[in-house]
Amino acid sequence: MSQRLLPYGRQLIDDDDVAAVVETLRGDWLTQGPTVARFEGAVAEVAGARYAVAVASGTAALHLACLAAGVRAGVGGVTSDITFVASANAIRYAGGAPRLADVDPETALVRVDSMRAAANDLARAGQATRVLIPVDFSGAIADLPAVRALADELGAIVIEDAAHSLGASYEHDGRAHRAGSGSHAHMAIFSFHPVKHVTTCEGGAIVTNDEGAYRELLELRTHGITKDPARLTRNEGPWYYEQRTLGYHYRITDVQCALGLSQMRKAARFVERRRELAARYDRALAALADRIVPLRVRPGVTSSYHLYVARLVPRDREALESVAARRLALYTALREAAILPQVHYIPVHRQPDFVASGLSGGVFDGAERYYAGCLSLPLFPAMEDADVDRVVDVIATALAR
Ligand SMILES: Cc1ncc(COP(=O)(O)O)c(C=O)c1O
Repeated sequence: MSQRLLPYGRQLIDDDDVAAVVETLRGDWLTQGPTVARFEGAVAEVAGARYAVAVASGTAALHLACLAAGVRAGVGGVTSDITFVASANAIRYAGGAPRLADVDPETALVRVDSMRAAANDLARAGQATRVLIPVDFSGAIADLPAVRALADELGAIVIEDAAHSLGASYEHDGRAHRAGSGSHAHMAIFSFHPVKHVTTCEGGAIVTNDEGAYRELLELRTHGITKDPARLTRNEGPWYYEQRTLGYHYRITDVQCALGLSQMRKAARFVERRRELAARYDRALAALADRIVPLRVRPGVTSSYHLYVARLVPRDREALESVAARRLALYTALREAAILPQVHYIPVHRQPDFVASGLSGGVFDGAERYYAGCLSLPLFPAMEDADVDRVVDVIATALAR
């Protein structure tokens, strides 16, 4: 009997999700109707933030957040070298110069001292650092209080890339703070791509507690246009609108938000199941701890496990090329067993476009060490406990060779 295919991530769509979409399709609004605002309410609530603006993708959310933060030609921004390229590209879309910062190889989270070095590098090039974009990699929140302290020193805005961390939290000053809550970041973004915690097919959102940023983001999402009488230079009638700035068509639809709202009702359950599966992986992999270890979660952080990343343990004085070759062998063995792991991420500084554009400068020892041995194992809420055991059995056999 052929074995069930286990991808690294997958959506979970139930009949109630389908029913919610169908109901919206039969209703009066397909695009900018009431469901977008209802979904935004649910996003703000899950983050514990005052405002949410839902948009076409997480990438669009990053782009608009950079624009609202004042990124433009002549200023720069710093993000992590271990992230999806979108985190760095958003700074470029807004006309700014991105710099990449190294990560701690055990957590894959950005190192704040490396962010500082990147900001110094921008300063030497005559560019102020306008944004810092820490990434909550795999669902574990970056050191936001330290990033915020650096941002305050630099006069920069913090945009938390929370694409991986819906439902996660961190302890600070004796309190728990949620991903996207704005306790330390000025804005945060989420992605609702199907592999994420909840999905709208494609989609994203920006959350913030800043009313000014919120109003600007609403306009930027739709061509820079407003109908708000308080923001018009004049009013020529009830049809009247004005384009105040150059914005974009980054709107999300009511149909997508109907799916998102239905999914959001299950977000806590989805995150809980991810945590259970991650704990099972942790326990099962403990027997192989001399060969493979889970990504370390920073103390005080409760991850929401968008990804479950394991790392090969380098042998004594083993070259990174050799670790990478062993990772490829493990990847291949898993695929042969109908298990589809993934590598998150190729360090951004290695991307040919970043190299060709002169944007790959810096020292990335941590990112290189992390990248050589990392592998994202299947993790999605519909997985069964036995699926975890199956993955770990294949790993044990492959690493025993
Ligand atoms: C860390 C991170 N930031 C941003 C994005 C962009 O999100 P989207 O695919 O919704 O545009 C992703 C998507 O995978 C991501 O992983």
